[in-house]
Amino acid sequence: MSEIKIAPSILAWDLGDLEGAIEISVKGGADQVHLDVIDGHFAPNITFGPGTVKALRSRCNLKFDTHLMIDSPHLYVDKFLEAGSDLLTFHAEVLNGSSFDDLYRVVHAKGKEMGLAMKPKTELPRWASDRLDRVSTLVIMTVNPGFSGQSMDMSVMPKLQKISALVEHRGLMTDVEVDGGVEPENVQEVAKRGGNVLVAGAGVYGKKDPVNAISVLRERALQVRKAQ
Ligand code: DX5
Ligand code: ZN
Repeated sequence: MSEIKIAPSILAWDLGDLEGAIEISVKGGADQVHLDVIDGHFAPNITFGPGTVKALRSRCNLKFDTHLMIDSPHLYVDKFLEAGSDLLTFHAEVLNGSSFDDLYRVVHAKGKEMGLAMKPKTELPRWASDRLDRVSTLVIMTVNPGFSGQSMDMSVMPKLQKISALVEHRGLMTDVEVDGGVEPENVQEVAKRGGNVLVAGAGVYGKKDPVNAISVLRERALQVRKAQ
């Protein structure tokens, strides 16, 4: 089973102090930083673009996990790679097998990782199941994309379990990332169902001690792993 990794989502911090958000992630020992890019079309919010990712890149060495919630990722893939994203995640809802292949070629040529995300009600498409060996991270969204601070949609748990089982059955090293409403109270449910990369916005940055909140999530998830 893949290692537990914590990915704080900086969208939940003061957007005027993203450097501060990065510092918290570094101090707390986060494995990667989750950067939510939303274009106001794919989801109802507008966040930041490649310029911001580039500015943050010069401030830390943590893995940049860029979650593109945008309608036309092919127009921006180069920009986000140049900006310093290490893992670039695209949404299954805006792709098909052929556009996936085009994006994969671009990401792979730069030696970076490709992720594939699904909204709560989206099942893993057949074209994606056929290409799983090229996906480093499957992102299972447990809230509708747009905003930090929503509660986790527990109806996604069977899909999470099914996808984790598929990854294991095929002997793949694909990370199963869970994004949306992850908190100390539900992180064990997620880990039990095979989620190993835990994105947390409010679950880290909404806490009184956000640096410590990263360890709290990690320890709770690891307790499940030890018992399995
Ligand atoms: C939602 C984003 C999530 C979100 C996570 O559109 O993709 O990454 O910011 O924040 P929390 O953990 O607060 O739901
Ligand atoms: Zn996200």
